[in-house]
Amino acid sequence: MTETPVPTARPSSTVAIIGAGSVGATLAYAALVRGAARNVVLYDINKAKVEAEAADIGHGIEFISQATIEGSDDIEICRDADLVVFTAGAKQHPGQSRMDLAANTVGLVKKVLPSVMEVAPNAMHMMVTNPVDVVTYAAQQITGLPPSHVFGSGTVLDSSRLRYLIARECKVAVQSVHAYVLGEHGDSEVPMWSSASIGGVPLLDWLGEDGEPLFTDAVRSRIGRDVVHAAYQIIEGKGATNYAVGLAVTRIIEAVLRNEHRVLPVSTRIDDDFLGIHDVCLSMPTVVDAGGAVRRLGIPMSQHEMARVQASGRSIREAARSLGF
Ligand code: LAC
Repeated sequence: MTETPVPTARPSSTVAIIGAGSVGATLAYAALVRGAARNVVLYDINKAKVEAEAADIGHGIEFISQATIEGSDDIEICRDADLVVFTAGAKQHPGQSRMDLAANTVGLVKKVLPSVMEVAPNAMHMMVTNPVDVVTYAAQQITGLPPSHVFGSGTVLDSSRLRYLIARECKVAVQSVHAYVLGEHGDSEVPMWSSASIGGVPLLDWLGEDGEPLFTDAVRSRIGRDVVHAAYQIIEGKGATNYAVGLAVTRIIEAVLRNEHRVLPVSTRIDDDFLGIHDVCLSMPTVVDAGGAVRRLGIPMSQHEMARVQASGRSIREAARSLGF
């Protein structure tokens, strides 16, 4: 395959995706198909793979509005990117938790991020690699950038899984379901039932066809378990998750590059006396725009939900501490 020339000058709205694995490649495709980014560059140390992924998407550019894609094993390809999305890292194997990947992934971030910073000093950084909350915290420490400029994809995907399952339960369009999963993107994540609503109706007041409340404790427990176990089941079946995470991260890319001021549960640095959570990254509803993760919102929680979010924060803090952060 001929050397793909690395572009010199490039218009803005360029996303640089670090890692051309199944998540990175799917994200590149989703971001272009949705028009979230005009220009996508893919970086991976595996030259053959990254050039093949870029070529395979590039051959379809005719069918996508105004877009470019480049792939290279030269970090120079990320020069002047507006947003860097870090997807590179070890694959989660069947039965493995996301936290099991921490040492490997943080080591990779330590190795790659400084060279990305050199070629894209003004970029925002979104971490996707797991365990994303620990990785986001580490990336903030490594880059020294303001916390708003280094955030993680967090529980945007988990919240979309929760909404999907709620929508199926009550046979309503998923777009009419508003519900968050907060805390860790992982085993200690917390579904926010008390603030969930369907078309403006509090979820806990939603009645089933029998006129009785549909979301009983048993239904909520089942759905909560299905959300936490979703990735494990998909990994068991096909080896990795990629489509929904690609679409969820594309949604965050849109919020940044289009300056949407969209509220999303991304992973950001929390130092909050009210929550009783300090010195950790986890997901809370946050305004995301061209300035990054700019403003975290206080969301009403039950005492039980607050206690679970605090416990989630403690487990992330312990994992970060075990890696020296
Ligand atoms: C998942 C991966 C992205 O939850 O952690 O599918």
